[in-house]
Amino acid sequence: MLSIKNLHATIGDKEILKGINLEVKAGEVHAIMGPNGAGKSTLASIIAGNENYEVTDGAIFLDGEDLSDLAPEERAHKGVFLSFQYPVEIPGVSVTNFMRTAINETRKAQGLEEMPANQMLKVIREKSELLEIDRKFLSRSLNEGFSGGEKKRNEIFQMAMLEPKLAILDETDSGLDIDALRIVANGVNKLKSDKNAVVVITHYQRLLDYIVPDFVHVLLDGKIVKSGNASLALELEEKGYDWIKQEQEA
Ligand SMILES: Nc1ncnc2c1ncn2[C@@H]1O[C@H](COP(=O)(O)OP(=O)(O)O)[C@@H](O)[C@H]1O
Ligand SMILES: [Mg+2]
Repeated sequence: MLSIKNLHATIGDKEILKGINLEVKAGEVHAIMGPNGAGKSTLASIIAGNENYEVTDGAIFLDGEDLSDLAPEERAHKGVFLSFQYPVEIPGVSVTNFMRTAINETRKAQGLEEMPANQMLKVIREKSELLEIDRKFLSRSLNEGFSGGEKKRNEIFQMAMLEPKLAILDETDSGLDIDALRIVANGVNKLKSDKNAVVVITHYQRLLDYIVPDFVHVLLDGKIVKSGNASLALELEEKGYDWIKQEQEA
């Protein structure tokens, strides 16, 4: 599904990604871990098409298609979802209305008609029940006064509604309390299928107590230096990242 080959990227004149190779197949959950500043968020942004970074070498493929020349919206329409896409507060636009617009825009880009209102309501009901989202939450203004947990709930709800092929969840290091972690993990576990794939980026092993990844990759200084199964995350929790740095130097 996702294939990243020898990806190098810079911002200004600073090289941040220094040759990333990653293969993610449908049905898999991958975790990318690494210390602050390793380039995790940069990688997520570049997959989603953030134009502040310059890809200087290598390429990213989705189902065999080179994404290089596609704008962020086009990538989204092809099924790439990055968390924190819409962190803005939009007073007067409810969570439900926002989702309706997002879905219909995607459908339009795919040459489909707008989703009929009754079907939209049915899908919203189904997904919100699946994720145990309160009705009241759906009528609130987007992100306005949302707590950390509510932002996560909104994000996971977006993911459920848009049904992306590839979801990338960048769980930035701060502000994720245990409730927020559970919301993210429950969402991922309930939404995963043999047709989609999830890449979870996290600094802490904690999240992986709830989401069991098929593969764990360690990103250090712009490169994936080690890959393994879920037990690698536990090893990192116990020994930190220095151990891998030493292994690299040896
Ligand atoms: N907009 C930017 N301008 C300059 N440097 C940046 C920018 N974004 C990220 N960086 C640098 O790139 C490196 C990787 O950052 P980031 O991808 O956010 O790491 P992580 O998510 O692993 O903590 C850091 O050294 C950071 O300072
Ligand atoms: Mg980050």
